[in-house]
Amino acid sequence: MALLNILHFPDDRLRTKAKPVDKVTDKHRTLISNMLETMYDAPGIGLAATQINFHERILVIDISEEKNEPIVLINPELLEKEGDQEFDEGCLSVPGIYETLHRAEKVRVKALNQKGESFEMDAHGLLAVCIQHEMDHLEGKLFVDYLSQLKKQRIRKKLEKQQRNAM
Ligand code: NI
Repeated sequence: MALLNILHFPDDRLRTKAKPVDKVTDKHRTLISNMLETMYDAPGIGLAATQINFHERILVIDISEEKNEPIVLINPELLEKEGDQEFDEGCLSVPGIYETLHRAEKVRVKALNQKGESFEMDAHGLLAVCIQHEMDHLEGKLFVDYLSQLKKQRIRKKLEKQQRNAM
């Protein structure tokens, strides 16, 4: 297994729209293991392939306390969404920034698992937020895109400064 490099806002590669996975292969399964390891190490509760500069539609999520309930969604599709909730969101690609956003309270998604089998799942609360957040990544969208231009500009400057200082 290997830790993967996570792209940080405002990196343009985070704006790439991911392509559907044609067929789930061993290459994808290895990548998924590495994505999970990278997410746990960060630590985070969700990671989209886009964030590690691989532009196919793959997400990993684990919101459990024990970090032993990984969820893998390949080619996820939102079938239904319902209600509204407010949540303080963060993102491994926007380190140190947390902002309150509105998302649907409940979602139903369809996806493929690591074996390439189709399944459906219902999620609510934090898991629903996480699925919506990660699916946005596959469209090249970040949670900061929901904020005002002014706020987004401030976050961009802050992160650019951090990145310069880290060099
Ligand atoms: Ni994110």
